[in-house]
Amino acid sequence: MCGIIGYIGDNDVAPILLDGLERLEYRGYDSAGISTINRNGDIFTTKAKGKIEQLRKKVKSEYKDISTIGIGHTRWATHGKPSDRNSHPHMSMDGRFSVVHNGIIENFSELKADLQNEGVIFASETDTEVVAQLLAKLYDGDMRSTIMKTLKKLKGAYSLGILCKDFPNEIWAVRNASPLIIGLCENQNFLASDITAVVKYTKSIYQLDDGEFARLTRDNVEIFAPTGEKISKNIVKIDWDVSAAEKGGYQHFMLKEIMEEPEAIAKTISPRINDDNSINLDGINLTAEQIKNLKKICVVACGSAWHVGMVGKYVIEELTRIPVEVDLASEFRYRNPIIDENCLCIAISQSGETADTLAALREAKSRGARILSIVNVVGSTIANESDDVLYTWAGPEIAVATTKAYSTQLTLVYLLALYMAQALDKIDDKEYNEIINAIRSLPEQVASILEQKDEIKELAKRYAYLEHAYFIGRNLDYAVSLEASLKLKEISYIHSEAYAAGELKHGTISLIEEGTVVCALCCCDRLFEKTVSNIKEVAARGAETIAVISESSPNVQLECDHKIYVPSTHELIMPSLEVIPLQLMGYYIALARKCNIDKPRNLAKSVTVE
Ligand code: G6P
Repeated sequence: MCGIIGYIGDNDVAPILLDGLERLEYRGYDSAGISTINRNGDIFTTKAKGKIEQLRKKVKSEYKDISTIGIGHTRWATHGKPSDRNSHPHMSMDGRFSVVHNGIIENFSELKADLQNEGVIFASETDTEVVAQLLAKLYDGDMRSTIMKTLKKLKGAYSLGILCKDFPNEIWAVRNASPLIIGLCENQNFLASDITAVVKYTKSIYQLDDGEFARLTRDNVEIFAPTGEKISKNIVKIDWDVSAAEKGGYQHFMLKEIMEEPEAIAKTISPRINDDNSINLDGINLTAEQIKNLKKICVVACGSAWHVGMVGKYVIEELTRIPVEVDLASEFRYRNPIIDENCLCIAISQSGETADTLAALREAKSRGARILSIVNVVGSTIANESDDVLYTWAGPEIAVATTKAYSTQLTLVYLLALYMAQALDKIDDKEYNEIINAIRSLPEQVASILEQKDEIKELAKRYAYLEHAYFIGRNLDYAVSLEASLKLKEISYIHSEAYAAGELKHGTISLIEEGTVVCALCCCDRLFEKTVSNIKEVAARGAETIAVISESSPNVQLECDHKIYVPSTHELIMPSLEVIPLQLMGYYIALARKCNIDKPRNLAKSVTVE
């Protein structure tokens, strides 16, 4: 939710900020802006509603002066509609401070009213402007103490980049519950919401913790604890390359990331499966004794990560017989959940920063649960606050609609379920080895499905003008249909719903009419015939039907308009295969509709507000 960047060095800052903002655009793209300090010591700000392209045009015409210090922002609107006026950076009334912000200042209304009573005139409707005006009001000539006084007044989540015209050779960075890193380079330093913005320049970063703040100059970075003391931090080295955050010849990040799935799955599972098929879950200290004492597992997550949890429920319960509850993190946090020290809470999150998932994790922790997280971004807040962390090694995921993160999360759920089943002595060697071998084969099988992409593209063209779609399935097929439906709707804007196939006739079937498209996931062999009956029911009412079928499906007569085959595997691992053609289908339908696939309207990849 919103991306921020800051730069100080020897180079012309505007192109560096614009390039960094483009890489952060997945975090929000309602508007963007930059502030720099120009040669005569004034802060110069340019902002534009819309995508970075708009800002780039404005900067080209407005920027006459070269500056080597600046901050920038790309916005996902919360307080105040998208407009030039509400775009960041926000200035203090006296022109001394400029601020970029990611997060929400929860007490901004009170602060704003107090400032207005004292005569401060606000230029925007945003919560962020309060920070700039407060800095100006509390300014005492010393940035460290001014920032500390200001932070004491703020409630909420914020990462901030701050310029003060009295200190034209420094940028200040603040982090509290919103992500922020500092990129370290010779003769230049950066601040950014995310590594992708700076990986082109450096692979050495500091990760600030909550409450910490920093002073960046051309040659130095000083970090301060919330108490104001200077502290030292370890440098974290990033082990992926800039090409991982570029399109590499693909038209969209989403397609690139789908095509990367075999490799991402291989990277996630290979180090964790030993030659003798035993599982080595680095990063988790959960003992066999602790697993035996578990009375319940609760999974908390949002969006597609919640869909992974839905698959996890079936898989973990089947293999361990431990009851699993799967909650939307935004619901869990306010439902007074029944959790104690005999509960394991599994938090699933690509970004590791999703506000609701983090709050749900804290809620479960405060009630005594052990926290195990499945996270993609190393060192993210959710990872830092967990007792055990399993990293998906998916590499950076840029497209707002997740694909490779979803697939790698699934594989860790399988491995975790197997690991626990073994600790509980609930699985025999034969089934254990069958499942492990199925997991090992995933990269190759996923690659074979991706080879069918041109056929799926052809089929997708047929649905470019679709208005409504339904995805149905039973058991694991139902869990996957939730993800397939979300993929389609979020990038193509086609209304789509996922239904447990057996539930359709309790109301929703009344919506089926001539030409409605129903995609049935039929990869659960045990329930194949049941789903086939549901296909017949909708076809009888005029639906156009698509079935996703495993090559091993029972030999039952299935009449439907289109069949998509996927290789067969162990029933519990099937979600990893059946989701792939449906990710491709969503992508190609959106492509045929000329949608903005990587940045769908109103969405952001990392949702750091409630
Ligand atoms: C956003 C993204 C989704 C993602 C969800 C949870 O809505 O668009 O793709 O599943 O957030 O994000 P997380 O980073 O916690 O997995």
